[in-house]
Amino acid sequence: MKHDDPLPPRPVSDSQSEMTEIVLPNDANPLGSLLGGRLMHWIDMAGALAAHRHSRSYVVTASIDHLDFLVPVHVGDLVILRSSVNRVFNTSMEIGVKVWVEHYLNDECQHVSSAYLTFVAVDGSGNHLAVPVVVPETDEQKRRYNDAGARREIRRAHLERRNSVSR
Ligand SMILES: CC(C)(COP(=O)(O)OP(=O)(O)OC[C@H]1O[C@@H](n2cnc3c(N)ncnc32)[C@H](O)[C@@H]1OP(=O)(O)O)[C@@H](O)C(=O)NCCC(=O)NCCS
Repeated sequence: MKHDDPLPPRPVSDSQSEMTEIVLPNDANPLGSLLGGRLMHWIDMAGALAAHRHSRSYVVTASIDHLDFLVPVHVGDLVILRSSVNRVFNTSMEIGVKVWVEHYLNDECQHVSSAYLTFVAVDGSGNHLAVPVVVPETDEQKRRYNDAGARREIRRAHLERRNSVSR
C-alpha cells in the first residue's frame, strides 16, 4: 500500500494536463458526429495523464461518474481535454476532465462535457499504492477539492447499495 519513500504533497498545477485531438472520419458516426465512445476513451486518457503525473505511478480507472454530451462535435473539429487532480484520498484520486470543442474557422469554443474519474495507483504487480497529497491553491481548485469530498460519499453509498444487493 505504500511507496518506499512517501512522496511529498504536490500542488494541483504540477500535474494539470491538456490533450488535443482532431476528429477524423474514423471517430464519427455516419452523420459525421463524434462517437460518444471515442470521446469517453479520450476522457479516460486525459484523466490518466494527470493521474500518472501526480502519483508518479501506474494507475487503473476505478470509475467514471455520470457523463453528458452537451453539444455535437463534427469531423474536422478540434477537441481539447483539460484534466486536473481534484482530490486525493488514500490510494485513489478524483480527476476532473473538462472537454471543449474548438471551431477554428470562426474562432469559437464550446463546452462539450465534464467528467469525474477515480483512478487507483498501483505498482507493477497491481498492488495499491498511497498517492501523495494534492494541494489546491486557487479558489477554483479549493471548490473542486471540497466538491470531490461530497462526490466520494455519493460513490461510497452507491457501492454499498450495489454490494448489499449482490450479496
Ligand atoms: C478499482 C480497483 C483497483 C479497486 O480495488 P478493490 O481492491 O476492489 O478496492 P478497495 O476496496 O481496496 O479500494 C481501493 C481504493 O479504490 C477506491 N474504489 C474502489 N472501487 C471504487 C469505485 N467503484 N469508484 C471509486 N473508487 C473506488 C476505494 O475507495 C479505495 O480508495 P482509497 O484507498 O483512496 O480509500 C479494482 O476493482 C480493479 O482493479 N478494477 C479494475 C480496474 C480496471 O481494469 N479498469 C480499467 C477499465 S476495465
